[in-house]
Amino acid sequence: MKVTVVGAGAVGASCAEYIAIKNFASEVVILDIKEGYAEGKAMDLMQTASLLNFDTQIKGSTNDYSKTAGSEVAVITSGIPRKPGMTREELIGINAGIVKQVSENLIKHSPNIIIIVVSNPMDTMTYLVHKTTSLPKNRIIGMGGALDSARFKYRLAEALEAPISDIDGMVIGGHSDKGMLPLTRLATRNSVKAAEFLSEERLEQVAADTKVGGATLTGLLGTSAWYAPGAAVSSMVQAIVCDQKKMFPCSALLEGEYGMNDISIGVPVILGKNGIEKIVTIDLNDAEKAKLIESSEGVRKTNGLLEL
Ligand code: 2OP
Repeated sequence: MKVTVVGAGAVGASCAEYIAIKNFASEVVILDIKEGYAEGKAMDLMQTASLLNFDTQIKGSTNDYSKTAGSEVAVITSGIPRKPGMTREELIGINAGIVKQVSENLIKHSPNIIIIVVSNPMDTMTYLVHKTTSLPKNRIIGMGGALDSARFKYRLAEALEAPISDIDGMVIGGHSDKGMLPLTRLATRNSVKAAEFLSEERLEQVAADTKVGGATLTGLLGTSAWYAPGAAVSSMVQAIVCDQKKMFPCSALLEGEYGMNDISIGVPVILGKNGIEKIVTIDLNDAEKAKLIESSEGVRKTNGLLEL
């Protein structure tokens, strides 16, 4: 199985590294527009193969999409990351043109590809790919909820003073500091509701810390995070390539689900060889439904900035 990662920056390179280490893909092509950069990252990663025991072939390409031909899955990380104090939405001006061009180039060489969008503002970039390419909706997936849920579990484990392997939790809604919806009511510690252990106030703090998880790291790092984003999207790639039928919250085009149409936003989906195999409808209470609608309004506002 061949996978392409567009963008050899920190997120793209981390994604390629995790895919290689998990050893489920025969080849990973890293592509970037910066001369020699992707080739350098690929060579450096290949020099870890004997140390990390993987057989995956990692190759780099400077903007030659013919090298991506025959890819089953492509991850789009290209574009500019946010700086401290910026919102993801502020990146739309530059990133929209990049994501549109990249997806068109990918499809030209791999007509049946499955595209996973990471570039921000992610829900809007995912919507852009839906609107500007001929790919069926199940083959266009946005990565946000998988990352936000990982941050949610991190915060829950911290609050519960529990091993993260005991924790389950999901974040749905828009991948934005204000719009994401950590489902605290459904979070569990080894099947026991987190609310059995934590006060409502503490759970609200966990949700608040989760929502600004990306901004917190951007403030510390001076740029967007990369390890967890890379790990999150590599897990989605694995679910597709290995046909795992695994459930992730992903940005998916809704056509009536959750009472919404013509929007790509984070909802639980089953990922497998066909990309989005199924959108999963879960029972939300009235407060959660209201927050999801409010989140969608934020995504639609950003979508409105697109020149489609
Ligand atoms: C994040 O939240 C890059 O949007 C990504 O770190």
